[in-house]
Amino acid sequence: MDTQPPKISASLMCADLCNVERDVRALEQAGVDWLHFDIMDGRFVPNITLGPDFVRAVRAISDLPLDVHLMVEEPERYLPQFLDAGSDILAIHVEATRHLRRTLQLIREGGARPALCLNPATPLDAIEYAADLIDMLVIMTVDPGFAGQKLIPTALPKIAEAKELLRARGSDAEIQVDGNVSFEHAPEMVAQGATVLVAGSSSVFRKGLSIEEGVKRLRAAVATQER
Ligand code: DX5
Ligand code: ZN
Repeated sequence: MDTQPPKISASLMCADLCNVERDVRALEQAGVDWLHFDIMDGRFVPNITLGPDFVRAVRAISDLPLDVHLMVEEPERYLPQFLDAGSDILAIHVEATRHLRRTLQLIREGGARPALCLNPATPLDAIEYAADLIDMLVIMTVDPGFAGQKLIPTALPKIAEAKELLRARGSDAEIQVDGNVSFEHAPEMVAQGATVLVAGSSSVFRKGLSIEEGVKRLRAAVATQER
């Protein structure tokens, strides 16, 4: 049984965007593992958020690993900018490019760790012939595009199925869960096999809690959970 606690990747789209450095320092002090950037182009998802310059700005003030989630059509068009901005992990959506393998290889050649992301309705077998190229598989538990959405329950079993698929291939890729990772849902996500939790408005940026309190409560929620 895996007893490593899950990593927390704090979703900066939920931070106070007028006080990013203050929130990044609070996240560092609270002990989050990674910083998560939800990049949206208004085409792959009906929203536009952060860009490569924002990633570069945070790179300049933090040594935490930068976990960049490209919710963009044809992500291969933007790899140079996000690699140059200092991304440590670059996740692309299987639904967003015709050339999965080539794009994943370009990410690794560019010095970042490649990850694949699946929308809630996308079957796991979509990654069948690219799973050997990834360091992380991201399971969306909300339809991407907005913070504050409710978990899609049918996406939960995909986490355990993903774990099985990766184990069957001898892959030790991380399994990240992104979407409504709340104090209530996180234990089940970890029990299914999640090793990285994207923490946004449902947890570390939860209304009424300090960042420190939100991180503490998320860590406590999953402390006893074994995968
Ligand atoms: C969805 C986003 C959210 C974001 C905020 O596209 O990726 O999942 O992380 O997290 P929540 O869902 O907690 O507001
Ligand atoms: Zn994300």
